[in-house]
Amino acid sequence: MTPMGLAPVDIVVEDETIVWVGVDCDPSEGDMVVDLAGLYVLPGFVDMHTHLHLRVGQYSVADDFQTGTAAALAGGTTTVVEYVTPDPGETFTSALDRWRRVSEKSRADYAFHVCIPRVTDDVLDELPGLIRQGITGFKVFLAYPDRLMLSTAEIGRVMSVVGPAGGVVFVHAEDGVEVERLRAEAVSMGRKAPIEHARTRPARTEVEAVSLILDLVEKTRCPTVVVHVSCGETMELLAEARSRGLPVFGETCPHYLWLTERQLLRPFEEAIHYICSPPIRTASDAMKLWDGLCTGVLQFVATDHCPFFSEARNSADSFDKVPNGISGIGARFNLTFAGGLYSGRFGMERLAHVLSTHPAMICGLYPRKGVIAPGADADLVVVDPFGRTDLGEEPLAGACDFNPWEGIEAPGRLLAVMGRGEWLWREHDLSAKPGRGRFQERRRLSHNLLAHLLGKDMAWIFCP
Ligand code: URP
Ligand code: ZN
Ligand code: ZN
Repeated sequence: MTPMGLAPVDIVVEDETIVWVGVDCDPSEGDMVVDLAGLYVLPGFVDMHTHLHLRVGQYSVADDFQTGTAAALAGGTTTVVEYVTPDPGETFTSALDRWRRVSEKSRADYAFHVCIPRVTDDVLDELPGLIRQGITGFKVFLAYPDRLMLSTAEIGRVMSVVGPAGGVVFVHAEDGVEVERLRAEAVSMGRKAPIEHARTRPARTEVEAVSLILDLVEKTRCPTVVVHVSCGETMELLAEARSRGLPVFGETCPHYLWLTERQLLRPFEEAIHYICSPPIRTASDAMKLWDGLCTGVLQFVATDHCPFFSEARNSADSFDKVPNGISGIGARFNLTFAGGLYSGRFGMERLAHVLSTHPAMICGLYPRKGVIAPGADADLVVVDPFGRTDLGEEPLAGACDFNPWEGIEAPGRLLAVMGRGEWLWREHDLSAKPGRGRFQERRRLSHNLLAHLLGKDMAWIFCP
C-alpha cells in the first residue's frame, strides 16, 4: 500500500525508517531480503482511542500499557493514542505525569489526548502549551454529569481556543442530562437489568448531542471528531454537516459495527460485559455505520478499548453501577477486515485508511505514521488475506478475563508486524519488550491534511 494506492513494490528499510519505495530494488550484499510476494503490506495501524490506564470509581481498567500494547501489536496496531483523563480536581500536569510514568512500559509507540473535565480561564490558557508539547487532541463530554460533563457554552470556549491553535476536539456526544433523568427513572422503578443501559441511553440522546456540537463547529470552525459514533441517524447529521464544509469527522468502533443490544438481554453476569457508552444498538444501526465507513461519512475505526475484570463488573447489582467499556484493541484489524473487505464493502486501500492513514492524519502523526513512503517510520503490517484468525488467541485478547470476541474465527491473518524497523510480532511470537514504545509528539493539523480528510478543495477550509 503506497500513498498512491496498492502497488507491487519493494520497500527498503534502514534502521527505523523507510528509505525507498519502488520497483526492482537491487539489494547489496549483506542486505536482509524478505520476500512477501502474494501478501499485502499495510502501514502500521493507529488506534486513536484507547484506555490503558483509567480509573472509574474504585476500579481500574483490566489492561495496562504492557498487556494492552501486546494485544495491540498482535493485531497490527503499532501506535496507540491514549486518553489522559484527570481525576476530579486533578491538574493536567499531574494527570500527564501519571500517564507518562505508566506508559514507560508501552511496547508500541504512543501519543496522548487529554480530557477536559472543567473549563476555567486557567484551563483554557494551558491548552496552547499542551499543543506545543505535542498533545493536540482534547476530549470534551456532553455525558457523565457526575464526572466530566461540560455545558455547550464551555465546549464552545474550548473549541475557540483549540481550533486556532492547531488542535482537534474529540467529543463524547450523549445528552448527559436526559440520560441521567432516564437512568434515575429506571432505577426508581426497579428496572436494573443490563438492557436498561441501552434503554436509558436511546439513540435520540446521541443525535441531540451531535446536533448541539455541530452548531458549535459551525460557529467556531474547530476541527472536531465525534468519537464512538453508534447510530444511523448520527450519520445523516454528519453527512449534512460535511456537505456544508464543516470540519467534522466521525469515529466508530468494532463493537458498534458487530454487536447488537441483544447481548444486553443475556443473563446478568454475561450481559454486564457489554455495557459501554454509548450503548451497542441495533443491526440496522450497525449496517448504517458500515455504509458510513464506505461512503466516507466516517473516517476512523478505533477501539475505545476499555475492559474491566469480571470482579469489577460482578460487584454491581444494577446496570447503572457497572463500569463502562468494551475490549477490542487486538481484534480491530480482523473485525474491520471481515465486515469491510471480506464482505465486499470496501477494498484494501479503504481498510488501510480507516485503520491507519486517517487516524494518523487527524492525530498529527502523519506522515511519520500512517503511510508507506520514504521518511516514514518503518511500521509495517504483513497481511495474508486468505488466512484466518481465532480472536480468542493470546495475546490478541489482552489481560481481561472476559473477551467479547472469544469463539470468533475471523477471516484475514497478520503474519508479521514491524515497528520502527524491528519485527515486533511474527506468527504467535511477540518480541516487543515493555518500554520499547516511544512517545510520539503530534503535529498541529494543517489545512491541506484537513482538506484531504474532508475530501474537499482547500478553498473550503476556513480556520479562524
Ligand atoms: O464506555 C466507554 N466508552 N468507556 C470509555 C470512556 C469513554 O467514554 O470513551
Ligand atoms: Zn467517550
Ligand atoms: Zn473512550
